[in-house]
Amino acid sequence: MVRETVRNFAISEIKPMVAKMEKTGEFPHEIIKKASQLGLCGIKIPVEFGGGGMDTISYIIAIEEICKISASVGVILSVNNSLVCDNIYHYGNDEQREKYLIPLAKGELLGCFALTEADAGSDAGNIRTSARKEGGCYILDGTKVFTTNGVNAHVAIVFAVTDKEKGKKGISAFIVEKGTSGFSVGREEEKMGLKGSETVELIFDNCKIPKENILGKEGDGFKIALSTLDSGRIGIAAQSIGIASACFEEALKYSKERVQFGKPISEFQAIKWMIADMSTEIEAARVLAFRAAYLKDSKERFTKEAAQAKLYASEMVNRVAYKAGQIFGGYGYCKEYSVERFYRDARVTTLYEGTSEIQRLVIARELLR
Ligand code: CAA
Repeated sequence: MVRETVRNFAISEIKPMVAKMEKTGEFPHEIIKKASQLGLCGIKIPVEFGGGGMDTISYIIAIEEICKISASVGVILSVNNSLVCDNIYHYGNDEQREKYLIPLAKGELLGCFALTEADAGSDAGNIRTSARKEGGCYILDGTKVFTTNGVNAHVAIVFAVTDKEKGKKGISAFIVEKGTSGFSVGREEEKMGLKGSETVELIFDNCKIPKENILGKEGDGFKIALSTLDSGRIGIAAQSIGIASACFEEALKYSKERVQFGKPISEFQAIKWMIADMSTEIEAARVLAFRAAYLKDSKERFTKEAAQAKLYASEMVNRVAYKAGQIFGGYGYCKEYSVERFYRDARVTTLYEGTSEIQRLVIARELLR
């Protein structure tokens, strides 16, 4: 039911806007507003906190269906769901859940996750943004980069160092409202794909926030970031599966229509093998993502499984998008067909929320622990 509902929504509400989003890079406000009416901004958040009250399996099905039409809309929702709502639901106190989680899950507010810095990407424990306590406040100073939703988000989860001496155990997480003095949006990245999703710098310059806005306790920040990313990675696996499924469906259809040497190219073994491999790899990725989601829903440890799902699915979508391009031939290189967009959108999945190399590191550590 979730798959069908979200698929219908994506086809009727998102698909007509895709070309404009690609051309103008405009943030899809209207789509996000309509998605919120379907409960897609806080899918896994219990109903009493404004969410859809569904499980992680439903969440990844929804993200997959959205990404089959638009990976840009998919990442906007994935960040709000996994990195922001889930985060405040798990680590926020009653007041924070009331004040921030409910409007975020309802889609009245949008959130972003500000961890990465210019010199702290894979080495996230090396962030330099600082938060010093002064009276009843924390003062934030520093610059974050690559922040998805950064321009339009009303609320940012920001990671900053509260005690330099303690290294990673001296990192804390904060909820910072847009409009707070000293908080501004910096440079926007011009990206290869995901044109409807914004990726920006966030600047904190003497930014004073109330001490009540700390998420968890001082020093909990790094663990909050890493455990939140475990969930986020299942969402990126789902995004990859969505893009790959779209590539596969388009390529399958085209292979039956395109005639060369007097017959549809689907009748040639070279094409058949590509189709068989694409489908098999997509199914394998889906099983890995479902397994990670199932473990999360069962409240079991899922760090390794989330990393495996993200690693396999993100590398898989790049192979599948490449093969779809081969099946389309020269047309696959042209904007007339969406496989060109899917190819560009797929590329980032092995990069954000932890590169493939970081996923391998996480998987190996879990196996060797
Ligand atoms: N959950 C909770 N705690 C965890 C954890 C997890 N998954 N993994 C590790 N920890 C804990 C460890 O147990 C350790 O705690 P103790 O000292 O008490 O034992 C602590 O966290 C520090 O762990 P490590 O020393 O192992 O940390 P590390 O610095 O060696 O490396 C890493 C960890 C896996 C490399 C990590 O830094 C990482 O995942 N890096 C990639 C960051 C990333 O994914 N960034 C993406 C940002 S978001 C984004 O992409 C933008 C967007 O908007 C889409």
